[in-house]
Amino acid sequence: MTQDELKQAVALAAIDYITPKLTRDSVIGVGTGSTAKYFIDGLANLKGEFAGAVASSEASAQQLEKLGIEVYELNQVSELLVYVDGADESNDQLELIKGGGAALTREKIVTAVSREFVCIADESKWVKVLGDFPLPVEVIPMARSYVARELVKMGGNPVYREGVVTDNDCVILDVHGLKMVDPRKWESDINQIAGVVTNGLFARRGADVLLLGTADGVKTIKPKY
Ligand code: 5RP
Repeated sequence: MTQDELKQAVALAAIDYITPKLTRDSVIGVGTGSTAKYFIDGLANLKGEFAGAVASSEASAQQLEKLGIEVYELNQVSELLVYVDGADESNDQLELIKGGGAALTREKIVTAVSREFVCIADESKWVKVLGDFPLPVEVIPMARSYVARELVKMGGNPVYREGVVTDNDCVILDVHGLKMVDPRKWESDINQIAGVVTNGLFARRGADVLLLGTADGVKTIKPKY
């Protein structure tokens, strides 16, 4: 199976996973990226079985609207039944690196409001130690150089993602060279740098379940504590 077929398979598995949980009043969280796109396509078949969705990016909101699915502002809802989104890396505790699509801050906020976070990913994202994928850090534009210098002091090699402006009018530094054996500490430490909006580590609040697309089928993985 190609990587794209694995992404489609996990998106379909997520549709099957959430369907029995939905009620007509449910509002769900919907992520960003190519795997999330397949999931949103699948939601078209569930129209009418849930109230609508909060999207973690303008791009996903537009895709939902095109399919005729009601898009809510997060401030309109107090809780999301479930959040379904991809990841750039996951370890066996379901601590993640996210933000390859530059939507990390909204993704983290939507995660925080969701009762359950279902991560969908193909097997290339499964790692022992987080950090081969450069860690995205969203930064207030005027703080870009300062934050980059601080990240170098922490042992990273930050690279400015040129030409990318986030949905929050901020910029992204992709930090190479960090091998994160303690992702929760890295998440907190990097967030302490003045000018950082947030970083793409989802460790303090990781996924509750991972649907991982493999050559042997979709595996359902729970965090290993
Ligand atoms: C976007 C993300 C995505 O979930 C992550 O980059 C994975 O993307 P894809 O499904 O295209 O592989 O965090 O900010």
